[in-house]
Amino acid sequence: MTTPTFIQLSSFSDLEALQEKEAISQGLLQEQAVISPKYFYDNLGSRLFEAITALDEYYPTRTESQIFEAHGPEIFGQLPHDRPLIELGAGSCRKAERLLHWMRPSRFVGIEIAAEFLQEGLTRLSERFPEMPLVGLGYDFSRSLDIPLSLPELGTGPRDIFYPGSSIGNFDPDQALKLTQSMAALSQEGTLVIGVDTVKEIDTLEAAYDDALGVTAAFNLNVLNHINRVLMSDFATQDWRHTALFNEQESRIEMHLVAKRKTRVSWPGGERKFRENESILTEYSYKWLPEDFTELLKKAGFSEVEVWTDPHQWFAVYRAQVRNPA
Ligand SMILES: C[S@@+](CC[C@H](N)C(=O)[O-])C[C@H]1O[C@@H](n2cnc3c(N)ncnc32)[C@H](O)[C@@H]1O
Repeated sequence: MTTPTFIQLSSFSDLEALQEKEAISQGLLQEQAVISPKYFYDNLGSRLFEAITALDEYYPTRTESQIFEAHGPEIFGQLPHDRPLIELGAGSCRKAERLLHWMRPSRFVGIEIAAEFLQEGLTRLSERFPEMPLVGLGYDFSRSLDIPLSLPELGTGPRDIFYPGSSIGNFDPDQALKLTQSMAALSQEGTLVIGVDTVKEIDTLEAAYDDALGVTAAFNLNVLNHINRVLMSDFATQDWRHTALFNEQESRIEMHLVAKRKTRVSWPGGERKFRENESILTEYSYKWLPEDFTELLKKAGFSEVEVWTDPHQWFAVYRAQVRNPA
């Protein structure tokens, strides 16, 4: 059995840690306070996300899996078998685990901010696919996917990129274009398979981000615990409540934490007073019409875009090739 290789690409130098804290602090001091959704994924947050995917209301994971089950051989079976497969935000690697037998890549590379969680996933994957080289890269791609293309662990030649779960929805359209452009560069004329949520009835969308059991509320509130550890702030989770609303004009779910009462939060070098009902924006989740996302992929340098969807058109899986500038 091969042992997964793990590399932490962000160096977590003192300077980087300071810049991280400065960015969080600036976000909290904006008129509309914001916390980046990347802070959802500490160890507990990653587990709460896994629980969300099992909820009745959370249709994206279930629907994406239905598409893979119905069309997996068509989507993945035609990919050449000897290329590296890179999954962005690989998390528990459960999706790769179900799909790898169709793809047979030369190696599997998971890129993930929640490094420990990814390591657990890779260990499980190595039991299922003992012969396959497995690589984990601990990396935060929220600002850019600026990985040295010659990094030996990424493998050589064309690489296939897998970005499921509609995580691209956390990025606004301009950022999504930049991220898909970097995916095109990283793939070196390989293939991208990406899962993206679609626009649908508001009740269905809002229930998916505000379930009856309160699991998504716990996931959202837990971001404050993570911020307290990173920033040394004193958020009290009991002072906040979760909301999720669909902004039709912008075609996105917006998740907020709303102050239940007037509250003051402080951290070394800063503080913010929140009025009752003032909120912190914690996540955007953009929903895309297939024609608009196809257009975005073409702008990013992909061609031969193919789309698979479910009978309700609740989710879409796109496969695209990097256009050869011949
Ligand atoms: C919505 S979950 C999707 C997980 C899994 N790929 C799936 O489809 O179910 C997003 C994943 O991306 C990771 N992630 C979020 N922000 C990230 C960032 N800035 N850099 C790297 N990974 C990130 C999270 O830790 C999490 O595993």
